[in-house]
Amino acid sequence: MVEGKQLIMLPGPTNVPDRVINAMTRPIINHRGPEFRELYDNLLEKLKYAFQTENDVFVLTSSGTGAVECAIGNIVSPGDKIAVPVNGVFSQRLKEKIEVFGGVPIEIPIEWGKAASPEQIAGAVAEQEVKAIAVVYNETSTGATMRGLDEVGKIAAEHDLLFIVDAISILGGDELPVDRWNIDICITGSQKCLACPPGLSMISVSDRAWEVIERTKSRTYYFNLLKIREFHERKETPFTPALPLWFALDEALSMLMEEGLEARIKRHERCARAFYGAIKELGLELFADERWLSNTVIAVKNPQGIADKDIRAIMREKYGVVIAGGMGKLKGAMFRIGNMGVVSEREVAATMSALRGALSELGYFK
Ligand SMILES: Cc1ncc(COP(=O)(O)O)c(C=O)c1O
Repeated sequence: MVEGKQLIMLPGPTNVPDRVINAMTRPIINHRGPEFRELYDNLLEKLKYAFQTENDVFVLTSSGTGAVECAIGNIVSPGDKIAVPVNGVFSQRLKEKIEVFGGVPIEIPIEWGKAASPEQIAGAVAEQEVKAIAVVYNETSTGATMRGLDEVGKIAAEHDLLFIVDAISILGGDELPVDRWNIDICITGSQKCLACPPGLSMISVSDRAWEVIERTKSRTYYFNLLKIREFHERKETPFTPALPLWFALDEALSMLMEEGLEARIKRHERCARAFYGAIKELGLELFADERWLSNTVIAVKNPQGIADKDIRAIMREKYGVVIAGGMGKLKGAMFRIGNMGVVSEREVAATMSALRGALSELGYFK
């Protein structure tokens, strides 16, 4: 067992730089006082940069699921139809959330490992009278990224529908100009490409979305966006914010701004290419279809006769490198490497070296 820090190559949470961890040791401030208002202003400005938006952006004290629930719970009235492509665990959960709030998901079933095309979404929208299109941009359970979101944004605008995007495992790691792509509600989490600890989620809300929210009786108390907006006017949150995490997020976003969003996206692309190249060289098979390969989640099928739990155990125990297994029906069929946050060539090399070592020990190269 290696001593010290493990290299966390999970598809979230990810490694957190010391600067961000240290930010959490700042003394606690009054969350209804001037120091918090200053933090609130600064943090939200940085978030708008990360989201590439002029829309309102809010920070919620909850993991990513809370922000998805917030989005759905504030726009869905019973009986509302929402088009939702389902191609993995997280899009399945998105569909279930629509049902929880009395909505009717118009499911676009997609083979896992692939992603919906704008044409498939246009087809679903033409057949049914839907109120919104809700998509998972990057299906973390399969390593498939939906492409053509700009086109989907146009379809949504043409039909006067809301466009909701779960970008939890991708914002900061791939293209996502929220305003240019006409995204009404965009959601992300702190623990992925922003390289912050888990525990916060962020959500952007467009003017078009506000019109719907104002007409919808919110069915959630904690995530009531009208209440959140009311407190936002005075730079506060309705309920007690997780202050140390806010300090951390502020620092993590400063690091993002120092690097530059474009440079960060390029770095993710570069490391993803290095991962995919090295994995193919080993003769391993990727789970996702080539057309939709994710830059942030590298999903690899288990080699014949070798269990991912054994690969992962050796990587963790001998090399201190932590990767994930499959989820849902893919449990036991694959392993997933997170290519997120502070990842660089160093982490790619360390992860691949650990993977090669584990495979060798398990007889893969015989
Ligand atoms: C695409 C996607 N949606 C939703 C979630 C749920 O986020 P959380 O676990 O932070 O609640 C995740 C988490 O991995 C995710 O990757």
